Amino acid sequence: MTGGYRDVYAAWERDPLFFWEQAAQTIDWFRAPTRIFDEGQGVYGRWYADGVTNTCYNCLDRHVEDGRGDQLALIHDSPMTGSVTRYTFSEALGEVKAIAGVLSSLGVGKGDRVVIYMPMIPEAVFSMLACARLGAVHSVVFGGFAAHELMHRIEDSEAKLVITASCGLEPGRVVPYKPMVDQAIADGQVKPAHVLVYQRPQAEAEMIAGRDVDFAAAVRDAKAAGRDQIACEPVLATDPLYILYTSGTTGQPKGVVRDNGGHMAALAWSMQNIYGVKAGDVFWSASDIGWVVGHSYIVYAPLINGSTTIVFEGKPVGTPDAGTFWRVVAEHGVSALFTAPTAFRAIRKEDPEAEFVGKYPMPTLKALFLAGERADPETLKWAERHLGVPVIDHWWQTETGWAIAANPFGLDLLPVKHGSPALPMPGYQVDVLDDAGHPVANGVLGNIVIKLPLPPGCLASFWKADDRFRKSCLEEFPGYYKTADAGYRDEDGYLFIMARTDDIINCAGHRLSTGQMEEVCATHPDVAECAVIGVADELKGQIPCGFLVLKNNVSREAGAIEKEVVNLVRQEIGPVAAFKMVIPVTRLPKTRSGKILRGTMQKIADRQPWKMPATIDDPAILGEIEAALRAHGH
Ligand code: COA
Ligand code: AMP
Repeated sequence: MTGGYRDVYAAWERDPLFFWEQAAQTIDWFRAPTRIFDEGQGVYGRWYADGVTNTCYNCLDRHVEDGRGDQLALIHDSPMTGSVTRYTFSEALGEVKAIAGVLSSLGVGKGDRVVIYMPMIPEAVFSMLACARLGAVHSVVFGGFAAHELMHRIEDSEAKLVITASCGLEPGRVVPYKPMVDQAIADGQVKPAHVLVYQRPQAEAEMIAGRDVDFAAAVRDAKAAGRDQIACEPVLATDPLYILYTSGTTGQPKGVVRDNGGHMAALAWSMQNIYGVKAGDVFWSASDIGWVVGHSYIVYAPLINGSTTIVFEGKPVGTPDAGTFWRVVAEHGVSALFTAPTAFRAIRKEDPEAEFVGKYPMPTLKALFLAGERADPETLKWAERHLGVPVIDHWWQTETGWAIAANPFGLDLLPVKHGSPALPMPGYQVDVLDDAGHPVANGVLGNIVIKLPLPPGCLASFWKADDRFRKSCLEEFPGYYKTADAGYRDEDGYLFIMARTDDIINCAGHRLSTGQMEEVCATHPDVAECAVIGVADELKGQIPCGFLVLKNNVSREAGAIEKEVVNLVRQEIGPVAAFKMVIPVTRLPKTRSGKILRGTMQKIADRQPWKMPATIDDPAILGEIEAALRAHGH
C-alpha cells in the first residue's frame, strides 16, 4: 500500500474489502480468509470470518522462523527495582511456551478465560501471549483496581484461572496484589480452580494449598520435564483473543471483546502507516498492560510487527526524576514513544525548561505519540519545542483498539493543528451528528459517530452482552457506532475531540465512571444523596469531585464521614479512582423531574460560562454549589 494519506483513504473508500484483504496479507494464516467481511455474522458483521490463525504465532514463532530469533523482543526497564532485563524473540518464545505448558497442565484450554492481575513485569506479557498460544481468552485487570473490581471481572468472565504476582511497586510503597486476589475469590461466586503466583522478593505472598501454584517453579518444572513444547492452537479469526473491561455508564464495567484476525491486521497496518515503525525498531508505549494502549502497543502491535517493545515499570517523574523517559529512550534506542499527555504535564511541571532532555542524546527518536485524553495545546507545543520531533495526537478508545483519527506519520505527516488528532484513518467514516441524528455543519459541536461496520480490530461486542452493546453503542444513531465523544470537524476535515457525552471522565489518562463512584458513595450509611463530577485538574486533566448530602439524623462530624467515603471508594474501586475531593452540601441542584444537573455543576466548578437550565427546580441551589466549591479552593 503506497501513497499519501489522501490516496490511501480514498483507496479504502473505493474498495474497503480489497483494502482489508491486502492488510491481512501481513499476517501469517493457517488458513487464509476467503470471506473478508461476513455481514451476516455477529452484531454488525465479522472480519475474516473463515480465516484460521494464532496471535502468539504471529507475535513470536514466525519471527524466530524468519531469522529474527536473536533480535530483542522485549526490554523490561524497571527504575522501581533498578534493573533492566532483555529477552530475544527466541528467549521470549521459550518463556511463553513454558507458561503455556503450565497453563495447559492446570486445565486451561481453548476458549477458557484467564484473569491476569499483574504489575509491569515481563511475565505479565508472556502470560498474555501464553493464553493466546492456547486459544485461551485473557482478561487483564489493571493493578490500581481493588478486590471488588477484580471480583466483578473474574465473575463476569467466569475465569478458570487467575495469574498474579505477589506485589506491584508504586513509588514509596509495595502494593500487595495477592491478598486482593484472595479477597476477590473469597467474595465472589466464581471460584477459579487455580491461582498462579509470581513471587517477587519485595513481598512474598502466602499460598493457599491445593489452589495456588508458584509461577517460577511451575515454569522451571515445565521446561525440565519437556512440557514446554506447546504448539500454537489454530483459532478462527473471529475467536476472542481477550476481554478488556472498561468503564461504562453504570457500575458494571463493559467487557470489550477483541478477536484474533481483525485485531492483528489492524495493528499491523497501524504500526507501518500510523507510527512509521519497522521490524527491528524499538517501540515504547509508556502505559500499562491493564489499559488498551498497553494491550495494543506494549504487547501485540510491536511484536506482530517484529519490533522490540519496552515494558517500563516506573513513572514519568519521581523514579527517580523527570529525566527517566529520556534515559530510557537514549539507553534503548527508542524510535517512537507513545504515552498520555498527563505524563508530559507531570514532566513539564517538574522540569519546565526541559533541562533533563539535554542530558540524554536521543538520535533514534523520530516521533512522540499522545493519546488517552485530550492533548492540551500547551503541553503539545512544549514537547515539540524540547524534543524537536513531530508530536502526534491521536484519538481512540478501548472499544476501537487502535486509532480512529491520527496524523499518519508512517504515510505522510500532514500539517499539525494543535488540539486536533487530525483525520480519520482508513476504515473509519466519522460523522458529527446533532442529537436528532442530523449532520452538523463544520465547526459545530455534535456527537461523534462512526459509520458501521467498524473496521477490523474494533470490538466485536461486549462479553456475553450483545444487547447491551446494541443498546449503548448502536441504537441511538442507527447505522452508526456512538463513540460517546463530543466534538467538531473543521473546514479541512480535522476532528477536535472536546468532551464525553456520558458520565465518564479521564483522570491521568485513566478512564473512570463517575456513575460508578456515585454508586459506591451512596452505600455509606450516612449519605442520603450524592453526585460525582469530573473537575479540571492541571496535572491529571480531570479529577473526580463528590458532593455529599448527609442524612438528616446524622450527628457525627462531617469530616469523619468524608474520610470514610473517600476510603470506601478506594477500597471498592481502587486507588486508580483518585477520589480524594469530597464536598458536603445540604442539597443538590435538580431539574423538576429530579435529574441532578451534573453538567451545570461541572461548568461552575471549572469556571466556564453556564446558563441557568430552564427546567431547574430551585435556582438558588446552584449558588450554594458554587459557594461550596470556592470554599474548598476550587
Ligand atoms: N498498582 C497499584 N496502584 C496504582 C497503580 C498500579 N498499577 N497505578 C496507579 N496506582 C495508584 C497510585 O499509586 C495512586 O495512589 P495514591 O492515591 O496512593 O497516590 C493512585 O493509584 C492514582 O494514580 P494516578 O492517578 O496514576 O496518580 P499518580 O500520582 O500515581 O501518577 C502520573 C500521576 C501522571 C505520573 C501517572 O498517572 C502517569 O504516569 N500517567 C501516565 C499515563 C498513563 O499511564 N496512562 C494510561 C493510559 S495511556
Ligand atoms: P480509553 O477507552 O481508556 O482509551 O478512553 C477513551 C476515551 O479517552 C475517548 O473516548 C476520549 O474521550 C478520550 N480520548 C482518548 N484519546 C483522545 C484524544 N487524542 N483526544 C481527546 N480525547 C481522547
